[in-house]
Amino acid sequence: MESSVIGEVALITGAGQGIGRAIALRLAQDGMDVVIVDRQGDQAESVAAEVQSRSCRALALTVDVTVAAQRQQMLDTTLGTFGRLDVVVNNAAIQCAALPRDVTEEHWDALMNVNAKAVFFCCQLALQHMAEQRSGRIVNMASIAGKLASTIYHPIYNVSKAAVIAMTKTLALAYASDGIRINAVCPGVVDTPMQAVVDREFARVTGRPAAEIRAERVGRIPMGRIEQPEEVAAMVSFLVGPDAGYITGEAFNVSGGMLAG
Ligand SMILES: NC(=O)c1ccc[n+]([C@@H]2O[C@H](COP(=O)([O-])OP(=O)(O)OC[C@H]3O[C@@H](n4cnc5c(N)ncnc54)[C@H](O)[C@@H]3O)[C@@H](O)[C@H]2O)c1
Repeated sequence: MESSVIGEVALITGAGQGIGRAIALRLAQDGMDVVIVDRQGDQAESVAAEVQSRSCRALALTVDVTVAAQRQQMLDTTLGTFGRLDVVVNNAAIQCAALPRDVTEEHWDALMNVNAKAVFFCCQLALQHMAEQRSGRIVNMASIAGKLASTIYHPIYNVSKAAVIAMTKTLALAYASDGIRINAVCPGVVDTPMQAVVDREFARVTGRPAAEIRAERVGRIPMGRIEQPEEVAAMVSFLVGPDAGYITGEAFNVSGGMLAG
């Protein structure tokens, strides 16, 4: 049986804004020391200050997760500062809209590098450490877009999120006997800065107003409202906590019913 997370250390990538920020604040509230990783260093610093203002310990690291040397430094600095690493949340991702016929190799490489390749190699790095300590939890941020073609304008984003689900299952199987649990979370339409970019991108490729596109997308959510980042963070909190002690290799939807029909 797993014990309480109080005093453990969690590293969250892409935590400078949006869902990652909400996860950092939630895990800090749960009693963990948090490492706020983002390529936007000022944003990471600002979230770390927010965590510290609540009397919790936080470390901000400016890291591009696609760069191997920076990933290694991220792990080394975390262990050097806190002396342990118990939880990794691979949350950083980007999106870019294009119809399948318009996708270029540059588009494929840019998305797959951040959304899939970096997630795998962040897992690999953390797992070396977690296997030695024979404990740890990883949560990979996927999307319902990894399970269905959420839009025809995001073919490579969809592929990247399916890859996250596939690697989560394979790694979970490989490390289950080492005391390490690995799961994925699949949000629906969440109110974050990325959504504003999605709306703008949709407007660019369809020639329609962004506000109209947003209203139409929210109208397709069975629960009738956009998801809040804290609602994703609550699932992450559960998955890294002791109540999820027998759960590994799963990909949980948190989407207001978007996959129900
Ligand atoms: N917003 C949604 O509706 C939604 C839905 C389903 C899944 N998701 C997933 O949730 C996660 C967070 O999404 P969000 O909406 O909060 O996004 P966001 O764009 O608002 O925030 C993502 C953060 O990741 C950082 N980042 C991007 N590339 C990076 C890199 N190479 N190295 C380090 N940091 C990097 C960005 O600087 C940013 O701070 C993503 O994996 C996204 O695919 C989001």
